[in-house]
Amino acid sequence: MSKLLVTGRKKLSGETYVQGAKNSALPVLAATILTKGENVIYNCPVLSDVDASARILRYLGCKVSRSSGAVIVDADTVDRCDIPDELMRKTRSSIVFLGAVLARTGKARMSFPGGCEIGLRPIDMHIKALRQMGAVIKEKHGYLDCAAPNGLRGAKITLSFPSVGTTEEIMIAACLAQGTTTVTNAAREPEICDLAEYLNKCGAKIYGAGEGVMVIEGVTSLNASHHSIIPDRIVAATLMSCAAVTGSSITLDGVICSNLASVIPVFEEAGCSIKCRSGKLEFNAPEKLKSMKTIRTMPYPGFPTDAQAPLLAAACVADGTTVFVENIFENRYRHTGELMRMGANIKTVGKVAVVEGVNSLYGTYVEATDLRGAASLVVAGLCADGQTEIGGVKYLERGYENFELTLSELGADIKKI
Ligand code: UD1
Repeated sequence: MSKLLVTGRKKLSGETYVQGAKNSALPVLAATILTKGENVIYNCPVLSDVDASARILRYLGCKVSRSSGAVIVDADTVDRCDIPDELMRKTRSSIVFLGAVLARTGKARMSFPGGCEIGLRPIDMHIKALRQMGAVIKEKHGYLDCAAPNGLRGAKITLSFPSVGTTEEIMIAACLAQGTTTVTNAAREPEICDLAEYLNKCGAKIYGAGEGVMVIEGVTSLNASHHSIIPDRIVAATLMSCAAVTGSSITLDGVICSNLASVIPVFEEAGCSIKCRSGKLEFNAPEKLKSMKTIRTMPYPGFPTDAQAPLLAAACVADGTTVFVENIFENRYRHTGELMRMGANIKTVGKVAVVEGVNSLYGTYVEATDLRGAASLVVAGLCADGQTEIGGVKYLERGYENFELTLSELGADIKKI
């Protein structure tokens, strides 16, 4: 079992390239099974979650290979419509394969998805939407048995919440459905726009991605295409947190600053200065961070739930009190207990966490239990006195590519053992 050893209080400096977005790469890879020919997906991060999607694609019969930063998928040879439990449990986003496999083969059989334990994470909205599109779905013994004997058809779907995964599920399923699908209260995340851009390059007709209402006109076939995944805004926010807690100045390359529009003002409020120019973000942190106003996680364009944990770690060493309200997932403060082992002063009640800044954290053994929680422990370790040993590195590796290498190149004292 790998661990990270971080010796804190080292300044970071220099420039680093921000990896491609995991949350874009996963649905795009699932969508490739709708296409004919060879897809080349550039800027695809090397992550265990991406490997898990590649394994599902291979199991379904696709040819999948990697060539440096790109993943190449040829789905002409798809010959299965089931996904074994062992593969489904690897990631939550395996659920988007449901609509993809159903659209491609007319049938699908798979178990409930896995993923980080950050709350209930039901899939009721996915199932309801696919049923509205004509799928017959039976749930028994933890398995979903799905069929669309007459093909999927367009439908008018209104989401009760702008769920990212459900919006992606519908987009993928609707591309090859008969007729037009309208999604009202659709998720507006940049990763939704990236998926739409990929599918439209393949010949899909998706309009309004990134707006509240999306229209998808079904087409008869999709051709493979070349596509480059957008930069990961959550990795960018995490690196900004790393620089913030160490009073450092760093430059992030390959960032789309507009995708960070709700995150940048929070860092500015903490006293950091940020300049965005030509795909680069220059970040300068003060010696001591100021507390931030209440941070409420919201669907995009609100403050992202995935950036809550790294920002919360930064708030632990800010001057004053910062309040967090987690509105998306109900069990997303599991890292706070570990941060308190490092000397943080945090009180959590339900969806609220009150963080009273302390002068400094101290290194100790801590254990990550989810992806973004793991990132928060790295942020804390970078500013703690002494050495922090972080267990549960496998969670970090679901979403951060060679994170210890990126940070040590910036000057951090961090290594994997
Ligand atoms: C995606 C992201 C994840 C991010 C989240 C919110 C990927 C691979 N993951 O997750 O990193 O934290 O968006 O921005 O892109 N819900 C239901 N029923 C459903 C579906 C969702 O009740 O059928 C609820 C969830 O429990 C949660 C909320 O809706 O409380 C948001 O979930 P959703 O937007 O679907 O998140 P994911 O797609 O799972």
